[in-house]
Amino acid sequence: MRKEIEWNRKLDLVWGALSSGGALLAVLDEKGKPNPMTIGWGELGIVWSRPVCTVLVRPTRYTYGGIRTGDSFTVNVPRPGELEEALALCGSKSGRALDKAKACGLTWEPSKKVKAPIIAECALFFECEILSRAQLSRESFRSADVLATFYPKGDPHLVVFGEIVASYAEDDL
Ligand SMILES: Cc1cc2nc3c(=O)[nH]c(=O)nc-3n(C[C@H](O)[C@H](O)[C@H](O)COP(=O)(O)O)c2cc1C
Repeated sequence: MRKEIEWNRKLDLVWGALSSGGALLAVLDEKGKPNPMTIGWGELGIVWSRPVCTVLVRPTRYTYGGIRTGDSFTVNVPRPGELEEALALCGSKSGRALDKAKACGLTWEPSKKVKAPIIAECALFFECEILSRAQLSRESFRSADVLATFYPKGDPHLVVFGEIVASYAEDDL
C-alpha cells in the first residue's frame, strides 16, 4: 500500500539514493513510450513559490528528446540497497537500443496526475509537471574546473524544473 506524503518528508531517502546508486527518472519519448534513466543529480526545493524537483539531462541521452518536448516526468526512488542491477543498467544502456524496463523486469504503472508513468518496484514517487527548461551553455560557467571536469566534450546539461504535483511512498518506508 502507498500513502500520499508531503513532498519534503523523505528528503534523506532521496539524497541517499542520488548520492549512491541513483534514482530512476521516467520520461515518455517523443512517440509516447516510457523510458527509465538513472539520475544522480537533482534537487528538491522551492522555486516560483512551488515545490519543485529539478533534474539535469545531458543532450546525448535518449531521455533528452522526451524531456525537451514533453510535459512531465516522474522520479522513482528505490528502497535503500534495492534495484541495484536495474539502476546500473538504466544508467549505462540507452533506451534508443533497448527496452530497459523490460530488460530489468521493471513495471510501468500509470501516474495519478501526469502522463509520465511511475515504476512500481520503487518505494518513493514524485510526479512532476514541467514548468520550465534551461539549457546550460559553456559561457554560463564561472568555474573552468567544473567545465573541464564535467564537460570535456562541451555538452552541458538541460536543466528541467518540474512542479511536484503528487508525492507518495510505500506505507512501511
Ligand atoms: C549513478 C548514475 C547517475 C547518473 N546521473 C545522470 C544525470 O543526473 N543526468 C544525466 O544526464 N545522466 C546521468 N547518468 C547517465 C545516464 O543514466 C546514462 O547515460 C543512461 O544510459 C542514459 O539513458 P538513455 O539514453 O536511455 O536516456 C547517470 C548514470 C549513473 C550510473
